Amino acid sequence: MTTPWGEQVLTRFPEDPRDRLRAWDASDEYLLGHLAEREVPLTGTVVAVGDRWGALVTALAAHGPLQITDSHLTREATRINLERAGAEPGTVRLLTTQDPPPDRVDVLLVRVPKSLGLLEDQLLRLAPALHEGTVVVGTGMVKEIHTSTLRLFERIVGPTRTSLAVKKARLIFATPDPALRRPVSPWPLTYRLPDDVGPLLSGRTVVNHAGVFCADRLDVGTRFFLRHLPSAGGARRVVDLGCGNGVVGTAMALADPGAEVLFTDESFQAAASAEATYKANGATGQAEFRVGDGLTGVPDGSVDLVLNNPPFHSHQATTDATAWRMFTGARRVLRPGGELWVVGNRHLGHHVKLKRLFGDCDLVAGDSRFVVLRAVRT
Ligand SMILES: C[S@@+](CC[C@H](N)C(=O)[O-])C[C@H]1O[C@@H](n2cnc3c(N)ncnc32)[C@H](O)[C@@H]1O
Repeated sequence: MTTPWGEQVLTRFPEDPRDRLRAWDASDEYLLGHLAEREVPLTGTVVAVGDRWGALVTALAAHGPLQITDSHLTREATRINLERAGAEPGTVRLLTTQDPPPDRVDVLLVRVPKSLGLLEDQLLRLAPALHEGTVVVGTGMVKEIHTSTLRLFERIVGPTRTSLAVKKARLIFATPDPALRRPVSPWPLTYRLPDDVGPLLSGRTVVNHAGVFCADRLDVGTRFFLRHLPSAGGARRVVDLGCGNGVVGTAMALADPGAEVLFTDESFQAAASAEATYKANGATGQAEFRVGDGLTGVPDGSVDLVLNNPPFHSHQATTDATAWRMFTGARRVLRPGGELWVVGNRHLGHHVKLKRLFGDCDLVAGDSRFVVLRAVRT
């Protein structure tokens, strides 16, 4: 990426030589160009929220910015990108959406996230740190910026306007209004499980921090999965892979209090939601809540059961790439005889991947839209 601060060689994470997707886009370039052209003073605490692969903080590393992200993959990419750019370790501080925000922010750069809820939550968390002189600039592709996006800036920061579009990207300028009466944060959101997921689960509480998958209602695929989970008792070590709000792993923990359940997700908000969902339902077994990439760090052959509702899109990578990595990881961590259970849209053809990796797979349940598949590690 060519920026006013020099050329950056940027990568996504995990690095994949077949991946032709760039680690930045026109919205990053537009924002950086604007900061340089308008000579925006990058002094005091400069915060970048939602920076996809670290392009913003890598370009601005000399100004000691602080990155706030919900994504483990973003953090890892940012670390690599900073190192390659020769940034001194520690010059860019990497915070997560679960860390306390800074007390004062002088420049706030917001790469508009896909989730409006996450934007709302992040702006509400940062708003007390803004002051009359804080420069707030948002950026995103035109198709990502809606009236509702601008309304959030208006309601939480102050008067907001947008730039002209350049290369299908747009900037958002918001002027902090200290007199603004901000809404109370609705996050985390909770809902109750419906009756058709079985007597043990019906009416149970699901807790969702902003930005998690299907934060305001039960996903139809997850609902189908809950109705067809393996029977309790067979598995001691269980992984809820890509746990989101943790409803699947919590269902297993409630059905089988003797099981040890590892909840893992690349989103910090998801791991925190899973822990909250688990605790809200009084599950009493052993549980661990981990943020990471797939099953990285889980020892080979150590798991009896992996439960997985793979993402449809992950950071614009194809579904297949992430699902493949999840299934390959599951095969590695399962003990012989251990099982991977997957729910997915019928048309995604997960059975083909599972057959290739595991030699075979069975259909546990299916309807017109979803299938639950089971693959056994031989
Ligand atoms: C379709 S959602 C399923 C969430 C939850 N299990 C459910 O059924 O409601 C997929 C989840 O995978 C997570 N995810 C995406 N890429 C991941 C990765 N590389 N490692 C771990 N989790 C990932 C997403 O953050 C998301 O929570």
